[in-house]
Amino acid sequence: MNVYLDNASTTGVSKEVLEAMLPYFQDDFGNPSSLHDKGIQVRKVINQSRSTIADLLHCDKSEIYFTSGGTESINWAIKGIAFQDTEKYEIITTPIEHHATLNTCEFLEKMGYVITYAQVDEKGFIDLDNLASLINPGTLLVSVIMANNEIGTIQNIEEISKLCQTYNTYLHVDAVQAVSHIEIDLRKLNVDLLSISGHKFHAPKGIGVLYIKNGTNIQNLIHGGQQELNHRAGTENVPYIVGITKAMEIGIKKIDMYNERLYNYSQVLLAELDDAGIKYHLNGPEIGVHRLPGNLNLSFKGIDGPVLTYLLNKRGIYVSNGSACDSKSIEVSHVIKAINVNPDYINSTIRISIGSETTLEQITYATRVIIDTIKEQLN
Ligand SMILES: Cc1ncc(COP(=O)(O)O)c(C=O)c1O
Repeated sequence: MNVYLDNASTTGVSKEVLEAMLPYFQDDFGNPSSLHDKGIQVRKVINQSRSTIADLLHCDKSEIYFTSGGTESINWAIKGIAFQDTEKYEIITTPIEHHATLNTCEFLEKMGYVITYAQVDEKGFIDLDNLASLINPGTLLVSVIMANNEIGTIQNIEEISKLCQTYNTYLHVDAVQAVSHIEIDLRKLNVDLLSISGHKFHAPKGIGVLYIKNGTNIQNLIHGGQQELNHRAGTENVPYIVGITKAMEIGIKKIDMYNERLYNYSQVLLAELDDAGIKYHLNGPEIGVHRLPGNLNLSFKGIDGPVLTYLLNKRGIYVSNGSACDSKSIEVSHVIKAINVNPDYINSTIRISIGSETTLEQITYATRVIIDTIKEQLN
């Protein structure tokens, strides 16, 4: 049996999503900018998709922009705010962000912007007192990850938002891992920008959303035609827009059911490791409301993480070594370093991310294989 336990890295397109998309590849292929019926028809589909997503996230349809994915949304949010005409040039982020954020900030730093990193504790929670002390009248933007892709930590966005209001600092939230796991109510969250990526919740790779609160002063990143309310040029990817909309509808409708299952399976996996006498350290918060459901970032003493990932792969169990977005590198993850994992455990980490399509049978089988492989390695 092969078991895919790398859902934080990507998910497959679900059957319902694919079926919703298919007509827009061949039959309804018009260009939404065309003035004839073939174009008008798909333009209506894009408008409807925008409205549906706005309803799901509780915002206005004029605040939803389709992009090519999480990385583009994050780049647009951070650079778009940085490049507006302002006296402010300080940006605060954290050391546990995705590279889409870290490398964008590094790029801006080379241009003269000042980037500061708010401290995180050993479970990956942002130290809110430290963040409060860093925000000052010159802070243009705070950019934080809502749910960490490696260790699953869920941040208190409402509190962070309150801190940002002190000096009218913009807040961007990387919610790429959050959709279909955490309820996103933009009326309550009070953020200015929020990034989403479709392939994390059964839409295709290469489609995302950027929420931009009305009234936000942001520069465009991609120049050309007048698509996306005149803010993001390029002929719209209609099938993928339909796909991300359908996937979000399904993911949000089933959020409680999926989460309960993912919590359950995570507990089953850890209980089986305990029963087998395997010593492990769960990096990040305890399983519960402050941890992304289905995320288990585990370190096993005396085990080499990349070797374990390799051996499991040979046995058909697909997990990630550290951050899968970066799995080509075998360097210790920046997130694991930032939360000061014990040196005995730092090189022995794997990330298991259970998904909405994972079954209990797969979990028990994969756990058995993990236990056997670790025991072999320790002997
Ligand atoms: C938290 C987070 N942000 C951003 C991204 C980048 O998204 P995309 O792959 O859609 O560019 C990822 C992808 O793994 C992610 O996990």
